[in-house]
Amino acid sequence: MTESELKLICRKSCGIVKNVGNFLKRELGKVSAEAIETKSLNSLVSYVDKAAEEQLVEGLGALIPSATFLTEEETVEQKEGVFQWIIDPLDGTTNFLHQLPFFSISVALQHHKKTVLGIVLEVNRDECFYAWKGGGAFLNDKKISVSDSKTLGDSLIATGFPYYDYDHSQPFLQTLEFFMKNTRGIRRFGSAALDLVYVACGRFDAFYEYSLNPWDVAGGAFIVEEAGGMVMDFKGEKDYLFGKEIIAVNPNIIDDFFKPVNAAFYPK
Ligand code: IPD
Ligand code: CA
Ligand code: CA
Repeated sequence: MTESELKLICRKSCGIVKNVGNFLKRELGKVSAEAIETKSLNSLVSYVDKAAEEQLVEGLGALIPSATFLTEEETVEQKEGVFQWIIDPLDGTTNFLHQLPFFSISVALQHHKKTVLGIVLEVNRDECFYAWKGGGAFLNDKKISVSDSKTLGDSLIATGFPYYDYDHSQPFLQTLEFFMKNTRGIRRFGSAALDLVYVACGRFDAFYEYSLNPWDVAGGAFIVEEAGGMVMDFKGEKDYLFGKEIIAVNPNIIDDFFKPVNAAFYPK
């Protein structure tokens, strides 16, 4: 696929994602308590996540008929292929169900297991973040880049608190205490995909979280990289998609941000 073909697929995919975003807007506040299922500890889902996923699969599937899918709600066969869409139809389900306005749709396209396109839509602000391989990163047609803060002390950072996997809560709390004392502040908004694209456009200077899944991070991590940021796992390696650890950061502060996370999770 050439860069211009990819750009066109990206434009069409953004249209599909925005339509599904309108569906999420219409359903906000309508889900009854009986319609909420618990998939596992504190992991909620409703017909809205599933219907949004079906709409995305239908629209994106038509763009590249040979492409396979990896999707959170598994409404379609999960298969590897030359092209694969990785989809989270509603990132921030807990926010959505509690009628908090911070949630998103996250989509990535992989070619031979390398991401070549990413889209994250902040539904309630009509902010569409997107990137395609080699094309840079954009927010509603405007090019974006990571922040240029030079020190941790000038940085606002984001994370996600553990809510089902408490195996690493001690090292995590250690990092929280460090960042509490050494940054401008820490935010926990509840949509990892949005945390990532907020790093991409410089609203946050860095983000880290453990126990995320590929659909939470694939689209956003790619957009961070196309916006000039660095993405890695807690060992400083590139296994952040399936490795359940992710750091995304403005390159100026990589050392100061990475060291405390690595030291807490992998003490020497
Ligand atoms: C969740 C959000 C949240 C993060 C969780 C994710 P979901 O995704 O990204 O910010 O802390 O770990 O599971 O379940 O709302 O799609
Ligand atoms: Ca998610
Ligand atoms: Ca989800």
